[in-house]
Parts: sequence; C-alpha cells; structure tokens
Amino acid sequence: LTASVTVDPAFTVGPVRSRTFGSFVEHLGRCVYTGIHDPGHPTADADGFRGDVIDLTRELGVSTVRYPGGNFVSGYRWEDGVGPVDERPRRLDLAWHSTEPNLVGVDEFMRWCRKTGVEPMMAVNLGTRGVQDALDLLEYCNGTSDTHFANLRRANGAEEPYDIRMWCLGNEMDGPWQIGHKTAEEYGRLAAETARAMRMVDPDLELVACGSSSSTMPTFGSWEQTVLTETYEHVDFVSAHVYYYEEDGDLASFLASAVNMDHFIESVVATADAVRAAGKHEKRIAISFDEWNVWYQKRAESKVPEGDDWPVAPVLLEDKYNVADAVVVGNLLISLLRHTDRVHAASLAQLVNVIAPIMTEPGGRSWRQTIFHPFALTARHAVGEVLRLAIESPSHDTAKYGAVSALDAVATHDPETGEVTVFAVNRSTTDDLELSVAVRGLGDLRLLEALTLSNPDHTWAATADDSESFAPRANESASVSGERIAAVLPPVSWSILRLA
Ligand code: AHR
Repeated sequence: LTASVTVDPAFTVGPVRSRTFGSFVEHLGRCVYTGIHDPGHPTADADGFRGDVIDLTRELGVSTVRYPGGNFVSGYRWEDGVGPVDERPRRLDLAWHSTEPNLVGVDEFMRWCRKTGVEPMMAVNLGTRGVQDALDLLEYCNGTSDTHFANLRRANGAEEPYDIRMWCLGNEMDGPWQIGHKTAEEYGRLAAETARAMRMVDPDLELVACGSSSSTMPTFGSWEQTVLTETYEHVDFVSAHVYYYEEDGDLASFLASAVNMDHFIESVVATADAVRAAGKHEKRIAISFDEWNVWYQKRAESKVPEGDDWPVAPVLLEDKYNVADAVVVGNLLISLLRHTDRVHAASLAQLVNVIAPIMTEPGGRSWRQTIFHPFALTARHAVGEVLRLAIESPSHDTAKYGAVSALDAVATHDPETGEVTVFAVNRSTTDDLELSVAVRGLGDLRLLEALTLSNPDHTWAATADDSESFAPRANESASVSGERIAAVLPPVSWSILRLA
C-alpha cells in the first residue's frame, strides 16, 4: 500500500496545548496506595511518595493531573484527608467497594504535584454534596484571607495557597452507577450554582461541567445541551470520556477507534455551538477530554469486590497493554491534537496501575507499559502549532466504522526551531504502508529521528521482567530527499518522524 501526506506550515489548526497531555490519579485500586504512595518503598521520600514513579511521571511528560476521582469523588469528604494522618477516619468507598484509609488527601496530593512538576486539576463532589462543600474545599486550597478553612490549611503546614486553577464540577453525573446520579436538569442547576458561587470567590477559576460519561449513553447530546444551557456563562469546559477495547477479536475496528473519537469530539462541539447560538453567547466552550484510554472493562481484573469484602487498595483495572493498544493510544493522541482548536485539555485515565502507562509492584519494581511510549514521545515532540494535513491513503472496511483510511496522521511545526514532527499510524492489519511526506516551504529537510512502535505479534505486552523489548525503535527505512521524506510503516504501527 502507498500513502502520501502534504504538510504546509501555513495551515494551522491552533497551538499545541500542554494540557492535552494530562493524566488522572483516582483513589481507586492501587493508583494512590502502592502506586504513587508507598512509604515502605526504597525510593520513597519523607511523604511516602515513590521516587521511581515521580521519575516515570516526569519522563511521561504529564502536564496536569486530575484528582481525586472519578467515581470516587462522588462520595468523598475531602476533610477526611486533611490534618494528622493517625486521626483520619477510615471510610467505605462505595464507588469501588473498597476501604479508603485517607492516608493521602489534598495536602499530600499537592506536595506530590509540586515534586512531580504537574498542575493539579481538582474535582469537587456533586454526588453526595453540593455548593457549600465545594466552597469549603476551594477556600481550603486557595484561600488567602484570615478565614477558617484557609487557616486550617496553614495549620496543616501549607502557609501558601495552592492556587488551583482548574476545577471539575463533579464526575459523570449522567451515569446511573454514579453516587448521587442526577438528571441533566438537576445536574445543570447544581453545576451552575456551584460554579457561580465558586466564581464569587475567584472569577478567574477555570471550570469544567460534566458532559456525558460516553457517547453511547442514551442521553448523549441532550445531556450536553441541557447542562450547557444552564451553565454556559459560568463554565469554560464541558468534559468528554471514552474507553476503547478490542471486542471479539475485531482488530480492524479497534485500530480505527480514533474515527469514533473524531466523531465524538465533533458532536460535542456541534452541541456546544448550538447552545451558544440559541443563547446568543459570545464565548465558545472548550472540551476537557478528561478520561480517555484503552480499557478492557469486561475482563476479570475490572471486577469490583462484593459483599463483606471491602479491601484497601485492591488490584483493580490493572490492564496489561499490548502493541495494538499502544497504536490505538498513539492514534487517539493524533485525534486530540488535530482538534486542538476545541480540545483544550485532556487526561489519560489513569496514571499508575489502574488502566495505566506506569505499573508498580508494592515495595518493588516499576515499569512502562506499551502505551507509555506514544504518550511520552508525543508529549515531548508535539511543539508549536498543530497543522492541518492533506492525506491520501487507501482505505479498508471495518465492522464498526465502515471504510477507514489505513493512514492517520497529524503534524506539528515549531516556528522557533523550524522543526516539523509527523505522528502517523498504519491501521492496516496486514500490509506495509509506503508513506511519502512532502513538506512545503521549509526548503531541504533533515531527518532528525524516525521511530516506529510495532511488532509482528501485536499482542505482545510489557511485563516487569521485559518492558522495553518492543519500545519504539529506529525506522531504518526512513530517508529524505529535498522536501520529501519516505518511510515504510509496518502493519499495526505507530511512528514519529522528526524533521528540520
Ligand atoms: O477511570 C475509571 C473510571 O471510569 C472513573 O472512575 C469513572 O469516572 C469512569 O467511569
């Protein structure tokens, strides 16, 4: 198969946004306990945070981290997690049928953010709680005056306010599984009133209203319309969540998941813009794609405990990712980048152990899953402006999405260095793709680096013993002549071509 791409630095979509490379830490399974926090670990610091995980998070290039949930937040009392650790209550976590020991709370999380160099994205509980508790948490985190909760933070050792800018108004409130699940009308009113009150404290807060928990929800579309009609002037973002997985061995459809993500984003944008028109609003609402990944929800490891079993930090949602999963994750990043005009933030769900790029053994080793690599390379090398490409590619049929092109790609251009980076996937399950890239207007090019992630056995998954055998490797087929680059992309592969 052959495919071509034309890149012209004049055709920009918008800036590469660092917040596109966010992730997510939820009190769920082993994400917090034995994930980021493991006081007995040889690399643990005085706060009990694993140094190896901090290093891997930095290497991953994560910008923002959403916290503390997820479904967990809808039953969370944030006050349980502050003050002397040995006086903190243990609580039932109804979302994941677990026991929450509250050894890590807001103050510890904020210290972890500072150590890791990430921006916090805080969620408030709009499931069992409401306006007042959101205001109390806001005052605890950001309060500058001589008032109760700001003083409590100071008494707990944080003299300076945390100045958290981005706040999620609840989580997946459209889902019947959510504690305090609401209708669109109920949630829209509560979100609007919570946002209004929070902005009485600080009009510059960046607020995220819950969109649908997936585009397959029966209320998808009408939920966004109702919620945004209520909240439009009080929020900046509407959230989107999606998880893909290979179903019944249908690899071709799975590899085309980004077709669905494109459609999802464009549907939410259309709905938000319809509310804008109807309400005669000036501004545009952006998308916070604050949960996305591959997640095999039907596998045994996603089964939550039952009955009288309420464990602390059980093994939950510990998916082992293979090469095909990494190709899909790389392609989903391509989709997020090409919508940089409307997707202003995104969070890979989640960061450690729970559907995660980083895995740990309690007290032991940590390693990179396959999905780590496309995320880290995209976060590092997508710089400057996202470019609109002209793509010519053969297509093939898929059961879920009809005809899809074998090639998908996006490019970025850094006007400061002149560097152009092409991110590309070959979604064919059988054929090599001979790719030709023409770059206009930059003169003769130099190939800085060409890396490809692939393996004839696309089911190969990283383990603690062998995590790196199929990390991206130099693509020896890549060559340059004048303004043209050629490279062979193997089937089921993700590649990065860096040019200057
Ligand atoms: O990321 C795992 C879970 O998926 C989150 O808690 C929830 O928001 C979503 O359904």
